[in-house]
Amino acid sequence: MPDILQVHNVVKYYGRGNIVTKALDSISFCVDQGEFTAIMGASGSGKSTLLNVISTIDRVSSGEICVEGQRIAEMKEKQLSLFRRDKLGFIFQEYNLLDTLTIRENIALPLNLKRVDVQTTQREVMRVSTALGISEQLDKFPYELSGGERQRAACARAIVARPALVLADEPTGALDSRNSRVLMKTFQQMNRQLDSTILMVTHDPVVGSYASRVLFLKDGRIWSEIDSGGRDRQTMYQEILTVMAALGGETGVR
Ligand SMILES: Nc1ncnc2c1ncn2[C@@H]1O[C@H](COP(=O)(O)OP(=O)(O)O)[C@@H](O)[C@H]1O
Ligand SMILES: [Mg+2]
Repeated sequence: MPDILQVHNVVKYYGRGNIVTKALDSISFCVDQGEFTAIMGASGSGKSTLLNVISTIDRVSSGEICVEGQRIAEMKEKQLSLFRRDKLGFIFQEYNLLDTLTIRENIALPLNLKRVDVQTTQREVMRVSTALGISEQLDKFPYELSGGERQRAACARAIVARPALVLADEPTGALDSRNSRVLMKTFQQMNRQLDSTILMVTHDPVVGSYASRVLFLKDGRIWSEIDSGGRDRQTMYQEILTVMAALGGETGVR
């Protein structure tokens, strides 16, 4: 399987002069096509910074990031916005659906931006909304949906244009534990049925246990990694708890 994402020796400093924080310290890893990877670690360990430099929201201080072989650091602003549009899908903690648009229109947005024709747009919106179980909700407005349904609609929007990589920062942050589990089942569907490659930040061990691989950050470095190797979610959950305990007793439970 080809690498979708290559992160090589990435360092990120914040601040200048005497007050400098090394938020990322020589981070290297790759993500293959079709992987569902979680990034975990205590608050302040660098999770959001790592996602932000991959999503091109922020720039690295040194090192290299490639998505489908394209080097992010070499791109100018205009190229970056096309790159984000064509290669990346985003899922945020807050749903970021537009209130004045129907769910169908919200999901179609990335295709509209790419000027995809109407017929293809309708077909692709049906494809993802059926797979994610929200095809009955398409003519409703966001306020008419539950929090869980809204987040599923946000997932549909993130993947409708078939991005190379889906990035999610604490996607369950605004959900209760039941809806968090439902959303993670949605992520598994995106990953297994729609072949989405997902990189997700979470500090919640239950949420992390749905991934097939977990990278743990500590003080801006990759501290350890576990791979589900096809084992069940409960086993993954136990392993995550074990690593978290070894990491320093941070339970990660809000
Ligand atoms: N914009 C910023 N300016 C200065 N320091 C920052 C900034 N963003 C994050 N940091 C620092 O970088 C480190 C990593 O932060 P962050 O990536 O947000 O961690 P996490 O998402 O794991 O909680 C922390 O020490 C944090 O205080
Ligand atoms: Mg964060």
